[in-house]
Amino acid sequence: MTTTLQAVRGMNDILPDECVIWQHVEAQLRDTLASYDYREIRFPIIEKTELFKRTIGDTTDIVTKEMYSFIDRNGEQLSLRPEGTAVCVRAGLEHGLLYNQIQKLWYLGPFYRHERPQKGRYRQFFQCGVEAFGLAGPDIDAEIILITQRLLKTLGLLPHISLQLNSLGSSESRAQHREQLIRYFKAHEHLLDDESQQRLAKNPLRILDSKNPALQHLIQEAPRLDDSLDTASREHFKKLCALLDSLDVKFTLNPYLVRGLDYYNFTVFEWVTTALGTQGTVCAGGRYDHLVAQLGGKPTPAIGCAFGMERIVLLLQSLQLTPPQPKTDLYVIATHSDTDIPARRLCEQLREQFPTLRLTIHCDGSSLSTQLKRADKGGAKIAIIVNHQLLLQQQFILKFLDERRVEEIVNMEQLMARLLQIKFLTD
Ligand code: HAM
Repeated sequence: MTTTLQAVRGMNDILPDECVIWQHVEAQLRDTLASYDYREIRFPIIEKTELFKRTIGDTTDIVTKEMYSFIDRNGEQLSLRPEGTAVCVRAGLEHGLLYNQIQKLWYLGPFYRHERPQKGRYRQFFQCGVEAFGLAGPDIDAEIILITQRLLKTLGLLPHISLQLNSLGSSESRAQHREQLIRYFKAHEHLLDDESQQRLAKNPLRILDSKNPALQHLIQEAPRLDDSLDTASREHFKKLCALLDSLDVKFTLNPYLVRGLDYYNFTVFEWVTTALGTQGTVCAGGRYDHLVAQLGGKPTPAIGCAFGMERIVLLLQSLQLTPPQPKTDLYVIATHSDTDIPARRLCEQLREQFPTLRLTIHCDGSSLSTQLKRADKGGAKIAIIVNHQLLLQQQFILKFLDERRVEEIVNMEQLMARLLQIKFLTD
């Protein structure tokens, strides 16, 4: 007996009912980003592994244990992209988009991380990333945050989600803070769990990210990054907070927000919700002013963020904010095999005239009553019946599929005029 195959663990099929929600989110994203004059960029799913090692950080979870990496037939070390920022910078540099220019870009697509799957955390997941290059001031930070807020508002999610904000400061202030953290956690090493002990050796800042309840007190007492910020970082952050205040963006300062990728500096932020369990970060990002130079470009300030699409869809579902499923508008019925071709011709004419109509023509023949049942089941509000006798006089039956089941006999001209009058068809 052959066994049925299943999808790879942590990789989801998105079924037709769910696709409607995805399309709704994607449409809002496209419209919102266009309204801020951002342009789409598309890039490959596979990149050289080196790109991610050099940018995300050698000691990060993503690079040490989560990448889908392989050697291809030419012996090249490649990886499925675990995130988009490094790829966007690589593509921007390769095509000269970042040299002395301002670029405001977005992308949408699948990303891959070999994480432990759970609700809201998958091995293939979709992100919509937004990246702005060539602007150093806090006003672009505010713009990126405003874009994210507008999208969440448009989707009806804003009341259920909050913005957390922090500044990681400059590389110098981070280095100073790192030294302080190492000293502090070394003094309390016996209290750390295994994961945090490993992080102490490699990336002590990530201990602050630990969700272990037993460590929360220790973390709260740890030296704070905001005490080590230098003047430039402080000024930038102060101006950003003032801008957000004047633009009515509500936020919470979270000095423990550090992010899991190494390339950030200055501003970092996350939109979080309690409605999704532990995977509550729906959108996250920050400044990465050194990344372009790190990949061989001219020093170029940059900031961006990415929405987790599955988490947005889950949130819409849990809050019952999903759009309605589409229904058939018109169901065309050929009562006999010799009326099938004229019925199909009619359908094509209707599609020409009413391109947004959802129009089904019955396939595989069957009795009139079976076809009408199928039309009702698909939610059609109107059927057009093409029968042999009426066709000889170029006429059709227009049948309303509500309780009254009214029928009208119409010619082609009358049919088109009638359909134009019916409000829901032309909305
Ligand atoms: P990230 O925090 O790794 O940042 O991911 C951004 C968002 O993607 C997360 O907040 C979450 O919503 C979603 N996400 C991440 N991993 C998974 C997963 N395994 N399953 C489902 N959703 C997930 C970045 O990737 C940065 N590139 C964001 C950025 C853009 N920073 C600057 N520009």
